Amino acid sequence: MTIAEIQQEILRIKKERDICILAHSYQAREILEVADFTGDSYKLSVDASKSTNKNIVMSGVRFMAETCKILAPEKRVFLPNPHAGCSMADQMDKQLISQVKEKYPDYTVVAYINTTADLKTICDVCVTSSSAVEICRKIENDNILFIPDCNLGDYVAKQLPEKNFKLLSGGCPIHACVNTDDVKKAKSLYPNAEVLVHPECTPDVVAMADYVGSTSGIMNYAINSDKKEFIIGTEISIAEHLQYMCPDKKFHYLSLKLICPNMKSTTLVDLYNCVKGDAGEEIILDDATIGDAKKCIDEMIRLG
Ligand code: 13P
Ligand code: SF4
Repeated sequence: MTIAEIQQEILRIKKERDICILAHSYQAREILEVADFTGDSYKLSVDASKSTNKNIVMSGVRFMAETCKILAPEKRVFLPNPHAGCSMADQMDKQLISQVKEKYPDYTVVAYINTTADLKTICDVCVTSSSAVEICRKIENDNILFIPDCNLGDYVAKQLPEKNFKLLSGGCPIHACVNTDDVKKAKSLYPNAEVLVHPECTPDVVAMADYVGSTSGIMNYAINSDKKEFIIGTEISIAEHLQYMCPDKKFHYLSLKLICPNMKSTTLVDLYNCVKGDAGEEIILDDATIGDAKKCIDEMIRLG
C-alpha cells in the first residue's frame, strides 16, 4: 500500500469506528495529515477533554495517552505503539516524590505534564511548557517544588524571581544533550538565522536563544515572524514541518542529536493497525488513579 492509500483507509476506519486521532507535533508529517487535532501537549489535553468521539487514539507518547484517559475516562484511549514512552516521565516515581514532599511540606508540588499518571496522583498542579510560567505565577504559594525537569524549572524560576523554586535533577535527555558549542556552530553556519529553543534545553543554551517556547510556541513564532531563517532547538520534526508550512523560509536543525526515539517509534502503519484494532495498547487506569491525577490536570486547565 502507498502512504496515500494507508491514509485513506485510516480516515475511512476512524469515521466508521468513531475515533478521534490526536497527534503531537513531533509526529511524522504523514501522521499529522490524518489527525483531527495536532499541537503541543497542552493543546492536545484540552482537545481530548472536548472530543465527542467514543474512542481516542493518541499518536504521541504514553504520558499523553494517559492524560487523555484521565480527562475523558468514559472513552477508550489507545496508544498506537506501546513502546512509545518518555525518558523524562520515567525518571521519577511516586515513592521518590513522596519522600521529597516530606522534606518540603510547605511547597506546592508542580508536575510537568511529562510525568506518569501514578506520579500525578500526589502532585498539586500540572503544567506544560507553554503554560508553566503563567500557572506558577498564579499559584498562591510562593514555595514551588517543580518536577521533574530542572531545565524547564530553571527557565520558569528565572521569569518569577519573587517565588522560591526547589528543583530536582531530572529532564529530557534529548534536549539536554545540546550544548553551547552546538549553538555557536549553528550560528556561525547561519549567521542571519534566529535561534528558537524549547525550555527543556539547558539554561546556557536557553540564554543564547532569540525565542524560548513550547513546540507550538516555536512554530507560531516562526510562522508569524518577518525573519526568513531559523535554527530550531527542539525535536527535528518541528523544523521539517515548518519547512513544509513556510517554503519561502529556511529552517535548520540546531543539532542532529535532537531526535526523540520515543516520538519517532510510532509509524503511520502503527496508527493504521491501531485504528483497525489489530495493534496498539488500550490505556487502562483504575478509578482512584484517574480521580487523583485529574485534580492536578483540572487545576492546570483552570489556571492555564
Ligand atoms: P510540548 O509541551 O512543547 O508539547 O513538549 C512536549 C515534549 O515532550 C517536549 O519534549
Ligand atoms: Fe520525552 Fe524528551 Fe521525547 Fe519529549 S523529547 S517525549 S521529553 S524524551
